[in-house]
Amino acid sequence: MGTLTIRSLNDSVKQALRERAAARGVSMEEEARSVLANGVSGDASRSFQDETLYAAIRRSVEPHGGFDVDLPERGPARRPPQFAACLSGKRILLIIGGGIAAYKALDLIRRLRERGAAVRVVMTAAAQEFVTTLSAGALSADHVFTDLFDRNDEHDVGHIRLSREADLVVVAPATADLMAKLANGHASDLASTVLIATDKPVLMAPAMNPKMWSHPATRRNRATLQKDGIAFVGPAKGEMAESNEAGEGRMAEPLEIVAAIEALLDVGPKPLAGRKIIVTSGPTHEPIDPVRYIANRSSGKQGHAIAAALARLGADVRLVSGPVGIADPAEVTTLHVETANEMKDAVEQLLPADAAVFVAAVADWRSETSAGEKIKKVAGEGPPALQMIENPDILAGVGHHKKRPSLVVGFAAETQDLVRNAEAKLRKKGADFIVANDVSHEGGVMGGDRNRVRIVSKAGVDEWPEMSKDEVATRLAALIAERLKTITV
Ligand code: CTP
Repeated sequence: MGTLTIRSLNDSVKQALRERAAARGVSMEEEARSVLANGVSGDASRSFQDETLYAAIRRSVEPHGGFDVDLPERGPARRPPQFAACLSGKRILLIIGGGIAAYKALDLIRRLRERGAAVRVVMTAAAQEFVTTLSAGALSADHVFTDLFDRNDEHDVGHIRLSREADLVVVAPATADLMAKLANGHASDLASTVLIATDKPVLMAPAMNPKMWSHPATRRNRATLQKDGIAFVGPAKGEMAESNEAGEGRMAEPLEIVAAIEALLDVGPKPLAGRKIIVTSGPTHEPIDPVRYIANRSSGKQGHAIAAALARLGADVRLVSGPVGIADPAEVTTLHVETANEMKDAVEQLLPADAAVFVAAVADWRSETSAGEKIKKVAGEGPPALQMIENPDILAGVGHHKKRPSLVVGFAAETQDLVRNAEAKLRKKGADFIVANDVSHEGGVMGGDRNRVRIVSKAGVDEWPEMSKDEVATRLAALIAERLKTITV
């Protein structure tokens, strides 16, 4: 046992301790004790920063005055017991961009380390205007990288190694500038070079002024990045740091970013393991002749996102998809169909199942006959008259089926009287709940990336805020897992 006075520490050590203590909400003394008690340099995440702090604090232990500290031999870092080490062994490279939200990136580092991840930080020059490398270094327990070429820096590991020695690269906050650089292949500083050099998945958490976020250039860049396989979390709607500014552009909260990281690294809980779930998605095409068909504007984005979210929770997902222009989700068995009748047959053959989620925008009618040859214009005869007949209602069929799954979820695409129409569909189709969304043209839901839904069940109506279709999917998958929990396999 020795004693330590904070006064006796030099200024830079005091500053590092102060920032670490503030970030953990403890006193400087407590933080100093924890640095010593954890022996911080005994495990794989040991760092220059921790070494320095440990050495400096240990040197300052005095024979008299100050508070008592145990001085254990160095050992592995301790983790607060309340956090499962779900990211244990995972290495995250965090790129902090320049924006007011950079302070949230510091909290993100802490949240990731609590869950067992090793975090390495790259900061852009602009980021250093908002938070210091000292704070990021103290929290990440590692050297912070800032320069592309720093031959004097003993820690210079080079951008290629930096980008490859991670399991995931996270950009938070992702500024309009960083998005533009990656979308256009620029490599003009360490952050952009790492992003273009990496062979690992990349997650961006954008944060910017709403006008910047809605600018056509940013929208173009985001679409390009998504096509290139970059994952996004947020931004959310809300008040901006600037006065009188509100809108979409706030960075996702650190815990939302952690959830997105866990999903990307596939380390989250698997409450749906052993459950078989059918999902329908996309439009159907109802042929008129070999080249013409009746269709609708559904893109399949929401249904595919739900299939992917259910699979992430461990479900055995069978996705029955109409013709869409998007990729089959990973870890999901996808069956491709064209017409409502084909979709119905595919779904019925997949029964029994634990749950079924009907997201597809099935065409309500089809032409009674489909011509074997292309219908020709004949002078003087006018347009052909199409005799329409009703398609089978797949959801209603399964909702009243003798092999009905324990949980049946429908969607209601409405342009008016949303809740009333959804309640009518709930009763008529035998669903447990209906996800109702307004698909009127102004909302841009059909084909768009965002959705605002209400969950309508016998218990009432639960209104969800507007969010991305991926976020709706994640939340809905969690709700389905919750409902199925009470039903034994
Ligand atoms: N649905 C279905 N088969 C159909 C039509 C709809 O399985 N032939 C499902 C959809 O996948 C969705 C729900 O039923 O889960 C409601 O679809 P929607 O298009 O909103 O309603 P409709 O029943 O088609 O009624 P309407 O078009 O009159 O609103």
